[in-house]
Amino acid sequence: MCGIIAYVGRRPCTDLLYQGLRKLEYRGYDSAGLSVLDNGEVRIVRAVGNLDNLERELKGGDGNGASTGLGHTRWATHGRPSTENAHPHLDCSGRISIVLNGIIENYAVLRDELSGEGHGFRSETDAEVVSHLIEKHYDGDLVEAVRRSIGDIEGHFAFCAVHADHPQLIVGARKECPLMVGVGKDENFIASAIPAFLSETRDVIAIEDGELVAVTPEGVEVLDLELRPVERDVTRVNWDADAAEKGGYETFMRKEIFEQPAALADTLAGRLGGDGMVTLEDINIPDEELAAIDKVYVVACGTSYHAGLVGRYVLEGWARTAVELDIASEFRYRDPVLSPRTLVIGISQSGETADTLVAMRQAKKSGAKVIAITNIMGSQATRDADGVVYTRAGLEIGVAATKTHLAQIAAIQLIALHLARLKGTKPPEELAAISAELHGVPDLLTDYLRRETATREIAKRYFEKPFFLYLGRGIGLPVCLEGALKLKEISYIPTEAYAAGEMKHGPIALLEKGSPVVVVATDGHVYDKVVSNIEEVRAREASVIAVATEGNEQIQSICDDVMYVPRTSEMLSPLLSVVPLQLLAYHIALLKGCNVDQPRNLAKTVTVE
Ligand code: AGP
Repeated sequence: MCGIIAYVGRRPCTDLLYQGLRKLEYRGYDSAGLSVLDNGEVRIVRAVGNLDNLERELKGGDGNGASTGLGHTRWATHGRPSTENAHPHLDCSGRISIVLNGIIENYAVLRDELSGEGHGFRSETDAEVVSHLIEKHYDGDLVEAVRRSIGDIEGHFAFCAVHADHPQLIVGARKECPLMVGVGKDENFIASAIPAFLSETRDVIAIEDGELVAVTPEGVEVLDLELRPVERDVTRVNWDADAAEKGGYETFMRKEIFEQPAALADTLAGRLGGDGMVTLEDINIPDEELAAIDKVYVVACGTSYHAGLVGRYVLEGWARTAVELDIASEFRYRDPVLSPRTLVIGISQSGETADTLVAMRQAKKSGAKVIAITNIMGSQATRDADGVVYTRAGLEIGVAATKTHLAQIAAIQLIALHLARLKGTKPPEELAAISAELHGVPDLLTDYLRRETATREIAKRYFEKPFFLYLGRGIGLPVCLEGALKLKEISYIPTEAYAAGEMKHGPIALLEKGSPVVVVATDGHVYDKVVSNIEEVRAREASVIAVATEGNEQIQSICDDVMYVPRTSEMLSPLLSVVPLQLLAYHIALLKGCNVDQPRNLAKTVTVE
């Protein structure tokens, strides 16, 4: 996620903006920049990489004392990390400057229209269209120009804009991405996160969805889309800097669990056509070669491997393509059978996991086509692969992967839909229906997270148990594997995770009275079989904690506890059913006093074999 900081007031703002960007570094970025209104001109300074590079470009200058400006740290989603793609962006005249967080889903259409009207673009980004839209709509009133521009934009975003004609005005707007005002004395800030201005003021005005804000040194005016004033209180924030970086959440892991709807929405944004068409802008493999693929081979480690396991079901089910998977550390020491008609998918949120990188290189050497699914632009995996499908989860700080996992599942679902359309294995109307349902999952997840309370209560009942068994069938199996990994890696409780049908072939010997058994029992074609396995568990007087589909009251009669998730079709269900397992592991680990963000013995990126 990008970081925004804006200032208008009585002080020179260059250093204030730069220091604000420093406070947003924790969000992750690959480039940065700032623009100031300096004697009727817009001056811009941008740099790729660390903020030290931007500092060098600023050369300690104070922008001639300019007291209005914008700052931005970029987490690239459209367009590689480069100075030209770094924000702020300008319009043709160079008198309008904007910084943006989020994704403009219809940027390609807007860019074509604006180009056709004579606008010249300097970058590959989606964000730049906003500066040209404001230029197009501007007739002396910056607020009105921003309002009209919002009407042209599809997607979710927060942005700030300045115009050289209005040296003491900043206009901001948001739709689904955060934006807030820091209220000072004869000065005001706008930012995407409170840490950016917390050292200067604790008085905050929240900007809500679909609102604009006009900020001057003297005042803050919150407006709705009809430019009617909105009354909004100033609230005092008492967080310390650490809490502010976590956005008020107690840990990064909890913050990232609750960022999953946005991570999912961002990963899907602009890629799902209403007619079942899928756009994978960086896949770089011609459609006819993809259509000829006769086997997909997934290589990954840990949680990423579990995303691959989910992917097997949709690649087989939708694209009717044979799928093999292997843990990357095993793949690299085998002699797998690959061909130019094999598509190898390396899944790695960091894009730097040693075993996965070696496996991908080996696959490429064998003549297979290689795609990386990764969260980090410019990572090694993106340089080794033929093509990339980026997850757009934003930086994940918690060592235990959560939002990147969900985004990985969505990415492989997009690949499966794409292959299904190219191979003609599903009629367009069916692909369109799947796309429509997938597009709606982020909202389902938002609603679920808003009202979920069961996992904390269940955790209180079981957190002192010495062992957990996880069971799942079909697409519920990778979900239970991931749930077990989450519990063991952050609470250090030994767990086993098994195909439910396998239990009677050994693991059932582990059960005794009160043993907690977590079962993924969401609706699907194997649900009745899972119920039979639950009965086997209960016959040993073990305690059953089920993940089930909302509306299934019957399951309560055979389980001790039930964690309900919203209904989706079976193939999409992991996007929801894994979340209560993340939360259950999270609450148990906290109750055990574990450091959930930095579990013992673990690193966020395993760059060694
Ligand atoms: C996940 O919670 C773990 N931290 C770990 O298993 C991780 O998924 C694995 O190391 C792979 O990392 P990658 O996605 O960066 O390749």
